[in-house]
Amino acid sequence: MEKLVITGPTPLKGEVVISGAKNAAVAILPATLLINGVCTIENLPNISDVKLYCNILESLGAKIKWNSPHEITVDTRNLNSHIASSDATRKFRASYYLIGALLGRCKEVKVGIPGGCNLGNRPIDQHIKGFEALGAKVDVSNGYITAKAKRLVGTSIYMDVVSVGATMNIMLASVLAEGTTIIDNPAKEPHIVDLANFLNTMGADIRGAGTDTIKINGVKELKGNATYSIVPDQIEAGTFMLAAIASKGDIKVKNCITKHLESIIAKIEEIGGNVEANGDHLRVWYSKRPTKANIKTLPYPGFPTDLQPQMGVVLAQAQGTSIINESIWESRFQYTDELRKMGAHITAQGKTAIFEGVEKLTGAPVSASDLRAGAALIIAGISAKGTTEIYNLTHIDRGYENIEEKFRKLGAKIERVNEE
Ligand code: EPZ
Repeated sequence: MEKLVITGPTPLKGEVVISGAKNAAVAILPATLLINGVCTIENLPNISDVKLYCNILESLGAKIKWNSPHEITVDTRNLNSHIASSDATRKFRASYYLIGALLGRCKEVKVGIPGGCNLGNRPIDQHIKGFEALGAKVDVSNGYITAKAKRLVGTSIYMDVVSVGATMNIMLASVLAEGTTIIDNPAKEPHIVDLANFLNTMGADIRGAGTDTIKINGVKELKGNATYSIVPDQIEAGTFMLAAIASKGDIKVKNCITKHLESIIAKIEEIGGNVEANGDHLRVWYSKRPTKANIKTLPYPGFPTDLQPQMGVVLAQAQGTSIINESIWESRFQYTDELRKMGAHITAQGKTAIFEGVEKLTGAPVSASDLRAGAALIIAGISAKGTTEIYNLTHIDRGYENIEEKFRKLGAKIERVNEE
């Protein structure tokens, strides 16, 4: 079994280049199934979820050529199946985008129930509501989700809950439907806009992604014959920004879109950090111990839940008492159990956690409960005095490309060790 061994404290200094967004890539890859043609995707993050998705696409008959670790050419003219087995789909959450894509292309689909990070209850009722509104019959049984439609006809769909996954899935299912689909109260994350931009590049007609109403005019076919570059990952960028503050460092974050980071920039400045933003790059640096803050995670453009654990590491070492209210997920404070092993004073109850800041964390053996908790523990290990060992690395490798390499280039004393 592998573990990361980190010796701290080290102030992180230097430059980091942000990779393509995981949560955009895992929607755009299944979206290629809607194309009766060939397309090229650039700036793919080199992470296990992307490799997993490419294997699933090939199992469905897609032909994939790897032009580089970050670029593929996909030929989806001759699909030979609409069934994705559960042994692949249960390995990650985003496998549920196969439903919208295959329903849209083949009018029928059978997909193993998705897996993904354990963040508490992760229902898909809004996805199903959308598919049924378009005319599909959906069944969930025997560990599979099946959906079938004689015709998919555009309609108006109001999202009861702001859901990234459901917004993406309804977009995928309605791109080739007859007529117009309106999605009201959609999610507005940058990866939603990226999926819409990808689909439009391939021949779709989607307007309003990133606003409160998305309008999809169904088209007959997506021809592809185009190249698309994945948007930079604002969560990876935010992870390194918070690492700069937690470690008392000074980092230049390159290949990011600072517009997507406004809530993080505002919070970092509020607690006494420094940010100089310049369009596609920014500098973030520590000049004094952070002051306390209250955080409420919200759908974009609010403070992202996917940066909540990383912010928790900063607040665990801030002056005074801070509060985090996790409004999206039922159970996203498991990482605080691990921070307490490192000397943090945190009380977590349901969707709220109270952080009484301490001067310094101390190294300890800890375990990553999910992707972003893993990133938070790396930041904690770099900031802490002593040696930290981090177990359960598969979560981290799903969403961060060469994370220890990127931290090492910033001065971190971090090694991946194989226990055996
Ligand atoms: C996506 O998950 C991301 N995953 C998550 O990132 C992220 O935390 C989340 O969006 C919120 O931004 C991917 O994009 C692969 P939701 P998703 O549907 O789509 C409720 C990471 O670390 N809900 O926006 O599963 C749900 O319970 C991962 O990269 C319903 O009630 O999230 C939650 O409370 C972790 N019914 C809220 O909506 C539904 O049908 C938001 O969930 C769907 C969701």
